[in-house]
Amino acid sequence: MFARALTSTAELRPLEPWQAEEFAAHMDRAREHIRPWVGPSFVTSDVAGARATLTRYAEGTARDGARIYGIWDEGVLVGGVMFVEFSAAAGTCEIGCWLEPGAQGRGLITAACRLLIEWAFRVRGIHRAEWRCRADNARSSEVAKRLGMTFEGALREAWRVGDTFYDKQVWSLLNKGETPWLPNP
Ligand SMILES: CC(C)(COP(=O)(O)OP(=O)(O)OC[C@H]1O[C@@H](n2cnc3c(N)ncnc32)[C@H](O)[C@@H]1OP(=O)(O)O)[C@@H](O)C(=O)NCCC(=O)NCCS
Repeated sequence: MFARALTSTAELRPLEPWQAEEFAAHMDRAREHIRPWVGPSFVTSDVAGARATLTRYAEGTARDGARIYGIWDEGVLVGGVMFVEFSAAAGTCEIGCWLEPGAQGRGLITAACRLLIEWAFRVRGIHRAEWRCRADNARSSEVAKRLGMTFEGALREAWRVGDTFYDKQVWSLLNKGETPWLPNP
């Protein structure tokens, strides 16, 4: 019902607990692709797990904190973006994302992140948007670059997968002239 167009066929919409079955079916298509790159609690294996993720975000939204949005292409949920963290009081947010493999390479995430940043900066007065990714997640750091983010450094061995510790990159965008791609207000 409340949708923003990303391309002629894809749109961004709220993703809510009532959509747990659809989210779980999407997770079946995305799970192994995203597993190395996202937090383990996001990689659920059934409808109950999918509902728990969406409920956690709904509760975050109720507190004016975390929020999650799905990307539908031709009516099929193919990925999404989220405010992993959001604090109007602190003026900061962190943005995250994922796609199922078939939806990569079309600019869907860059377009969706731009809408989140536009809302965070223009509507909510957020000052700093952050992006954190595994240092070897090239596709993710390319998104940060396309958004015009600045690479601030790597938290050494801060990302654990099993027995391996990876560096975690931190990128950011400030709400002071760093978003030339925003449309005129
Ligand atoms: C990270 C991830 C979401 C990035 O997806 P993506 O498709 O590369 O990113 P975008 O949707 O912004 O698309 C960019 C690609 O579309 C292409 N593209 C086509 N039209 C475009 C447009 N109008 N605007 C921008 N890019 C466009 C770009 O050239 C780029 O393709 P390339 O990398 O093959 O050159 C995806 O790789 C993923 O789900 N990875 C696993 C989960 C993950 O890592 N999540 C992030 C955790 S930090």
